[in-house]
Amino acid sequence: MMPKPFYQGKVRDLYEVDNEKMLIVSTDRISAFDVIFREIIPNKGVLLNAITVLWFKYIKNKKSRLFPNQTLTEALDFKTHFITDDIKEFPEPYCHYKELMNRSMLVHKTQRIDFECVVRGYLAGSAWKEYQKTKSICGIALPDGLSFGSKLPEPIFTPATKESLGKHDINVSFEYMKQKIGPIADRLKEISIAIFQEASLLLEEAGFLLCDTKFEFGIKDNKIYLIDEVLTPDSSRFWKKDTSVPESYDKQIIRDYLESIQWNKQPPPPPLPQNLIQDTYKRYEEIYLSIKKILV
Ligand SMILES: Nc1ncnc2c1ncn2[C@@H]1O[C@H](COP(=O)(O)OP(=O)(O)O)[C@@H](O)[C@H]1O
Ligand SMILES: [Mg+2]
Repeated sequence: MMPKPFYQGKVRDLYEVDNEKMLIVSTDRISAFDVIFREIIPNKGVLLNAITVLWFKYIKNKKSRLFPNQTLTEALDFKTHFITDDIKEFPEPYCHYKELMNRSMLVHKTQRIDFECVVRGYLAGSAWKEYQKTKSICGIALPDGLSFGSKLPEPIFTPATKESLGKHDINVSFEYMKQKIGPIADRLKEISIAIFQEASLLLEEAGFLLCDTKFEFGIKDNKIYLIDEVLTPDSSRFWKKDTSVPESYDKQIIRDYLESIQWNKQPPPPPLPQNLIQDTYKRYEEIYLSIKKILV
């Protein structure tokens, strides 16, 4: 029997390996507005795992566009938590469980920094809501006259606190983040924006715009590690290029459905219609196939 996870997030289960390493398994659970739904999206975890592995390998091993002749990890002096997604290389007993295949990775365990490092290139989501009220987001003043989906003059870093399960993350100013964690905040901002810019260039080649995304970081042996998932449709907004209205290849269609039925965003979650589940899977699959084309 598989051991029990020592932690279950909204989507991922974490398994103990040793003091240095752990196993992350991407399940098929779906969450929106920080609530986990009763339905699953069959095989979504496989796509999420594959997308994250592709980005980690790129960031770690491939020469970057922004810093020619260097990988992003070399240019910006950070590490990634990724070790392997090959279950044959997993430690006992995990190497024996076929159910882990294609949806898990062995990673370096780190001391997580409890901020979500959000980068935005276009106006959507909570930034659009905030902009309409204050013409700013996380204390960053934005130009007048922007509308939903407008391209921002340059990518902006809009951190949020990482709250415990069941609570909503809160947008905060960069100054607040810096007060809490110190000068390392500058490094996280610089790394986040650079990965965002690099990914934007690559995705554009595949016909997509990167609207926004969220990174997480941890510390181990005084080094910064990029952890968790990277540039997936659970953690990002991907828009088809050259459409008059943003066409989303992520979980926006689920959020839109939930807004349309005027759910109060508090548990219990409403049921998700089957066709929405299938449509979401298809969109995740399409963005996966596009990312695969550009990264391998
Ligand atoms: N290398 C790592 N070191 C420490 N914590 C990590 C690492 N990678 C991911 N995590 C944490 O593991 C959990 C992954 O599960 P997830 O379903 O994404 O949780 P959440 O509900 O917080 O989004 C998150 O809490 C994430 O911050
Ligand atoms: Mg998460």
